[in-house]
Amino acid sequence: MKLPILIHPDPRLKKVAAPLTDSSDAVRALAENMLETMYDAPGIGLAAPQVGVLERVIVLDCVKEEGAPPRPMVMINPEVVEHSDELNTYEEGCLSIPEQYADVTRPAEVTVTWMDVDGNAQRETLDGLWATCVQHEIDHLDGKLFIDYLTSLKRQLITRKMVKLKRERARG
Ligand code: NI
Repeated sequence: MKLPILIHPDPRLKKVAAPLTDSSDAVRALAENMLETMYDAPGIGLAAPQVGVLERVIVLDCVKEEGAPPRPMVMINPEVVEHSDELNTYEEGCLSIPEQYADVTRPAEVTVTWMDVDGNAQRETLDGLWATCVQHEIDHLDGKLFIDYLTSLKRQLITRKMVKLKRERARG
């Protein structure tokens, strides 16, 4: 089931999401719906707060190569436990901030721990677009958006555009 994606500014996008103690059928259903919503958008990552659920769940699939098999990942309580000193800059976007893009610099490589949908502990080192994406999504769980890395002037400009977009959409 496709879920509606919250558009910035929205107070729910600024909240710290709660950790889960275990996986459950409800979490599996949420993750499945989030993946469907992400692929449909289309996007490469989505965090539960973006669909109004304040729980620490993210989904991502950063496979970009044409014809390559998809690699949907679901992470519950994801945490960056190690990161490289080396940095990487990517032009980031966000499904909650449609059609706005900006360069953000983050660690180039991160080791992430999480719980999978079967309740098992997982750990993996990610680089490239995967590293950027997982950090962007984990930020969402702490109420942080990629525009928070920009100057306040750029952030205000984008926020004003989003307020206008939401007003237009509300009018239908
Ligand atoms: Ni985002």
